[in-house]
Amino acid sequence: MTTTTISDEEFLQRIQSGEKIEANDPMPAEYRENLLNLLEMQADSELSGAYGYIPWIEKAPTVHEKLLVAQIVKDEIRHAYAIYKCLEELGVDIDKRIQEQDFAYRLQEGDVNIGTERAAKDKRVNIFYYPIETWTDFIMFNFCMDRGAGHQLEDAKDSSYAPWARAIKTIFNEEMMHVNHGDTWVERLANDPATRDEAQAALEKWFNRTMNIFGRPGSRRNLIYQKWSLKHRDNDAVRQAFRQEIEEKVAKAGLKMPEWTPNYDENV
Ligand SMILES: [Fe+2]
Ligand SMILES: [Fe+2]
Repeated sequence: MTTTTISDEEFLQRIQSGEKIEANDPMPAEYRENLLNLLEMQADSELSGAYGYIPWIEKAPTVHEKLLVAQIVKDEIRHAYAIYKCLEELGVDIDKRIQEQDFAYRLQEGDVNIGTERAAKDKRVNIFYYPIETWTDFIMFNFCMDRGAGHQLEDAKDSSYAPWARAIKTIFNEEMMHVNHGDTWVERLANDPATRDEAQAALEKWFNRTMNIFGRPGSRRNLIYQKWSLKHRDNDAVRQAFRQEIEEKVAKAGLKMPEWTPNYDENV
């Protein structure tokens, strides 16, 4: 690449013709800002997600489950590392970022509802501010949030930014393993009369929180992401794909589908 700047029009033509962007390519300021935002949200979410799972290595019910939870923690740390490396290539001081934020921070009240608000200065998706308080919570987090993340990552797999798309491919496969862990356990908990009610209650809690992560339909931010091929679908299309899949799994497990009331942040 010989030029250090590029016009919006030339850059758009390039990505619309299917060309992928690398870290050292010139990019418009708006593209760079939105790319950084998406990468920071994902990296911070992966890291705080790993921290939320760590206590469950100790508290998992069997030795085999301890191994599986430890594997999931390792996967999430690896996801965080891969995405922070993408940020580092773009000039972000990632170790400074890690030192400045408390990624282990969690809300104290398990039942507090923060809707679409952030609870600290990091950029994690806000579901990661809620504590995982029981094994059933851990399972429903796999079942709902890892699945929700998978639906969001679908778009990133084919984004215009090549380093991100490359990183997502292996991350996506590992997320599907976390989802399968959730699916297996949801059926088990739902089929046992001793855990069925707890499973239903946890489903309602984590399904609703996951439905809030996708953003407002037609949001200004989402339109900008789509313009630059950083995403390809509207927020609500991703949410409905997630909801439909959950509906099938919930029916299979014999649980009841929760009611969700939209709670959108009108400012994004
Ligand atoms: Fe992850
Ligand atoms: Fe995961």
